[in-house]
Amino acid sequence: MVIEVVLGVSGGIASYKAAELVRLFTESGHSVRVVPTESSLNFVGAATWEALSGKPVQVGVFEHVDEVAHVRIGQGADLVLVAPATANVLAKAAHGLADDLLTNTLLTARCPVMFAPAMHTEMWENAATQANVATLRARGHIVLEPAVGRLTGVDTGKGRLPAPTEIFRAALNVLEDRALDLTGRHVVISAGGTREFLDPVRFLGNRSSGRQGYALAEAAVARGARVTVVAANVTLPPPAGVDVVPVVSTEELRQQMHLATADADAVVMAAAPADFRPAEFVDAKIKKTPDGVAPQIHLVENPDILVELVAARTSKHPVIVGFAAETGDADATVIEHARAKLARKGCDLLVVNDVSDGKVFGRDDTEAVVLGADGSLIDVPPGPKSGLAHTVWDAVVHRLD
Ligand code: CTP
Repeated sequence: MVIEVVLGVSGGIASYKAAELVRLFTESGHSVRVVPTESSLNFVGAATWEALSGKPVQVGVFEHVDEVAHVRIGQGADLVLVAPATANVLAKAAHGLADDLLTNTLLTARCPVMFAPAMHTEMWENAATQANVATLRARGHIVLEPAVGRLTGVDTGKGRLPAPTEIFRAALNVLEDRALDLTGRHVVISAGGTREFLDPVRFLGNRSSGRQGYALAEAAVARGARVTVVAANVTLPPPAGVDVVPVVSTEELRQQMHLATADADAVVMAAAPADFRPAEFVDAKIKKTPDGVAPQIHLVENPDILVELVAARTSKHPVIVGFAAETGDADATVIEHARAKLARKGCDLLVVNDVSDGKVFGRDDTEAVVLGADGSLIDVPPGPKSGLAHTVWDAVVHRLD
């Protein structure tokens, strides 16, 4: 299906990155109509947008008045995406101002509307901007969290436009026509695998890639949630619109999860924290000894973050989801082990992956069973990790209500 995209470009330095967005849509066979603001033309000229989109570009409402563009463009769109969205355009949209073609289009659109803000950290964090973002989200628009990184000058911080490829993915996810049933909710997801260092160069780690955690994050953004991902050693590109908190060790993951979940409505522990860590960290690289005797490494158990998060909550809020990679053995089946784990951990849902024969790790596809503390069981057949992610959020939403 050809998606009719209206790409609003407002006046920030990141507007040059929107050129790649046009390409991503058109090369996937979709149709893009670029609607720049007047100030954005200081950064990228109309000729660029006309050439890339193959469509005329108009900024104000008094050109081609006979075509009634200020109404028609919004009415005919399947998606309005504003990238970059400046503090100014967010403010106008929140207050329903309509003084150019883009802001008129925002008022006439009946399709999903997504904003990808980009601005300096101070402007993003300003109470006025935050209030405008909250208003837009409450109305059912998707406002992506800006990424953290290099800003216009030498400064770095939150406010960067997410990578165009990630905005593109987020936009396609929104078009899957899911309910915006996580609007107004804060969800916190742990992803990846922790590392426990023995010395400055060696660590104990595991094979968790973070793919499932990131798929959960993408799906939650598409359903309107504010999303924080505490990411342990994940090397994948961060999903657009997500606050990513990088961590290395289980102790860091633990601290950041406790901080991030203070106001969370749902928590998903998709990370694989190391169960054990070396009892001591040796400051200098451990050397081989001339007699060839291997060093003995003494391990101590790490705290169970999931159990701690369950213990810290009150009245079943937030909803808490655990993951378990299980293999069956002589004593019990995968499901029996998983039921016992669900009871032991005390969480509301447990997503169970059967990892016999190296299944699941690092792959794009997955299959799982989602067990509920209420005895429910949902079988998720083999498919993309995004499918499992939506099944998890369906089950979470059901419990939030
Ligand atoms: N988990 C955690 N903190 C740990 C270990 C695990 O929060 N220190 C979480 C994982 O993120 C996952 C769930 O607990 O959501 C189950 O992880 P798993 O490793 O299967 O649990 P264990 O209790 O370590 O069970 P097992 O003895 O089977 O390894």
